[in-house]
Amino acid sequence: MEYSFSHYLLSKQSVDDRALNQHVYQHLQASLPQGPLRIIEVGAGIGSMLIRLLKWGLLGQAEYILVDEMPENIAYAAGWIPGWAGENGLQVKPSPGNCLRLTNSKMDVLVRLECADVFDFIRRAPQPADLLIAHAFLDLLPMPESLRELLSLVKTDGLAWLTINFDGVSTLEPVIDPVLDAAIEQRYHRSMDTRPSGGDSQAGRHLFGHLSGLNAKIQAAGASDWVVHAIDGKYLADEAYFLQFILHFYEQSLSGQPEIEPRALADWLTKRRAQITRGELVYIAHQMDFLVKPLGV
Ligand SMILES: C[S@@+](CC[C@H](N)C(=O)[O-])C[C@H]1O[C@@H](n2cnc3c(N)ncnc32)[C@H](O)[C@@H]1O
Repeated sequence: MEYSFSHYLLSKQSVDDRALNQHVYQHLQASLPQGPLRIIEVGAGIGSMLIRLLKWGLLGQAEYILVDEMPENIAYAAGWIPGWAGENGLQVKPSPGNCLRLTNSKMDVLVRLECADVFDFIRRAPQPADLLIAHAFLDLLPMPESLRELLSLVKTDGLAWLTINFDGVSTLEPVIDPVLDAAIEQRYHRSMDTRPSGGDSQAGRHLFGHLSGLNAKIQAAGASDWVVHAIDGKYLADEAYFLQFILHFYEQSLSGQPEIEPRALADWLTKRRAQITRGELVYIAHQMDFLVKPLGV
């Protein structure tokens, strides 16, 4: 099987659509100011959240800056976003500076694609945003120092919508071997906690403390669990690929770890992949969403 990160991000869209906490999203909808918005999305990948918000009708007049450090993601976004917009009845005009203008009778969105490490982007002191979005991103970073920097991107009275923050539970059913399953889950979480670039397998629950320590007021919070299962033996959309990629993450994180015997891991992965092929595998990951108003420290 060929593993492509952009394909994984595409396959993740339908899983995230179901997972995003609607209570938190409704607070976001109700709290956004009228008038043109400046939105910065950090760790934005290929632009799935922008497309989701266009579909969900959240964006009227807006400038939407999409920051990601992977050139492949930005290159994919540069082709995918205008293609999607054209197919969905939006007028698309390229604008100077790696920008695209997407318009219809209700929307006028200027999209800017920034290929940059977000902390370098922050050092360039960009004009602050009405809304900061970090989706499936904060649990990869050293905390709370990264959060302090990211929240500096929000203007006074602005908002931050911080979604899909992993929070300590990743369950695969049916059980293969209770002892091995538990050991693999535990080691997988530990690999998130010990990544040299940062990360926290309990990022969701820890955000309450980190946000309070930075004087950011939580407006709404709730679970945004991924729940992936087959219906009549078939996974929705491209979710079989999504599950295969999740197993690829397990393989990458656990290979070479002395506590898990390589043959036991290989056998476990073979059995889990076969469960996907048969439409049996159920995957649940607990995550949390937040809407916050940074008040400054
Ligand atoms: C799990 S992916 C999520 C992508 C996107 N938010 C989504 O859910 O489709 C995390 C993304 O963060 C990006 N990333 C990681 N560290 C970054 C950094 N320091 N600056 C900018 N982007 C970063 C990666 O390239 C990757 O695209």
